[in-house]
Amino acid sequence: MKDLNNYIESNKDRFLNELIDLLKIPSISADTAYSQDVLHTAEAVKKSLTEAGCDNAEICETKGYPVVYADKIIDPNLPTVLVYGHYDVQPPDPINLWDSPPFKPVIKPTKLHPDGAIFARGACDDKGQFFMHVKAVEYMIKNNTLPCNVKFMIEGEEEVGSDSLAGFLDDNKEKLKNDIILISDTGMISMENPSITTGLRGLSYVEVEVTGANRDLHSGIYGGAAPNPINVLAKMIASLHDENNHITIPGFYDKVEIISDEERAEMAKAPFDLEEYKASLDIDDVHGEKGYSTSERFGIRPTLDVNGIWGGYMGEGAKTVIASKAYAKISMRLVPNQDWHEITDLFTKHFTSIAPKSVKVKVSPHHGGQAYVTPIDSIGYQAAAKAVEQTFGKSPVPQRTGGSIPIVALFEKVLESKTILLGFGLDSDAIHSPNEHFGVLNFLKGIETIPYFYKYFAELNA
Ligand code: BES
Ligand code: MN
Ligand code: MN
Repeated sequence: MKDLNNYIESNKDRFLNELIDLLKIPSISADTAYSQDVLHTAEAVKKSLTEAGCDNAEICETKGYPVVYADKIIDPNLPTVLVYGHYDVQPPDPINLWDSPPFKPVIKPTKLHPDGAIFARGACDDKGQFFMHVKAVEYMIKNNTLPCNVKFMIEGEEEVGSDSLAGFLDDNKEKLKNDIILISDTGMISMENPSITTGLRGLSYVEVEVTGANRDLHSGIYGGAAPNPINVLAKMIASLHDENNHITIPGFYDKVEIISDEERAEMAKAPFDLEEYKASLDIDDVHGEKGYSTSERFGIRPTLDVNGIWGGYMGEGAKTVIASKAYAKISMRLVPNQDWHEITDLFTKHFTSIAPKSVKVKVSPHHGGQAYVTPIDSIGYQAAAKAVEQTFGKSPVPQRTGGSIPIVALFEKVLESKTILLGFGLDSDAIHSPNEHFGVLNFLKGIETIPYFYKYFAELNA
């Protein structure tokens, strides 16, 4: 692999320009106004895989946005790596908080990325990250050093719950057959403290609607006498946590994986600086469940958060009104052994039961998925750890993250393979936020690290 660094050095401008072209297309899966752009992005991804030297590049129709598939099968006796990623992105709003337009990528330095970061929606989540795999595989194909077979599966609905992918997996088990799934759609602690993600949380996402009177009311004539659904909703939501910030839904914790003190002590060895954490968020204190550290709160404990709440008058000035309806969107992050369907049911039952008789409550589930934990004694993890050590000069620490990629649990169930979460983003990259970015060095380091994963994975499998 001696010419790998030369290859990256002499092609990095092209790599960046190709990524920038991909980032210019607003592939917002949540907003149907962008459906043509989502489809164009799939075409662009297919083209990039063909240009990288892959075979059988194909746009695979699903009941929703298509999956882009391509492969390079060099020898059926060699192990096969399946690369998963997503070409869709989150909506960019609030747009006025971006320093440069979300779909006009620019490269500029930041404190944590003095060598420059690419600013655009999708730069880190996930176009910049799956594109590292396209370029790493390009290198291995061009130099005839690909030591495994490789298959790509890049989907277009991850940010809206991967609704169509489950059916696609069921229908294409043979085509997607693999020995390991490799994903770069997570982060690492820092460039100085590389880590590999070993756990993803599950998710149950619901929307609630509270209805009071049959119409909006004058808040003087009716105030204090008729139900105010916004007041009621606020009170109901507040009651979902107790004074220790435990969630009060009966049964919510029943199946939560118990982690031994020994394991907790092991996890606590991962570098984490609470002061830095607070400073990076401009907060004077953290907030969370009593009895757990901050990294445990996001890594191994389930949560319940309001993601949006609205109702009533939200225009300029004041309007005296008691709204007929109030709404909230609520996400629950789940941990191993909690079943998201079951949690959705428990939430629905509880939330309906705590409503006063004066209002009507409707709970509508959006989407969800199970948590996932990857074993660290597996060949896949060992290969990833060796690859990171090779290019970062430091052995990575395993770390569970708070985010979710719900389809990963289904990969294990349907395709019967483990997933390695080899991400190169940083928490500060502002994914899903205004000014999302991805460090140029992180991008290049990823392209450098991935070929070593293939090398060690092939060697350890031999
Ligand atoms: N790439 C993220 C998940 C992620 C990011 C995990 C950073 C760990 C660290 C993914 O695109 C995402 O945003 N997932 C959603 C869930 C989905 C169903 C919308 C999430 O976690 O909110
Ligand atoms: Mn992602
Ligand atoms: Mn995302």
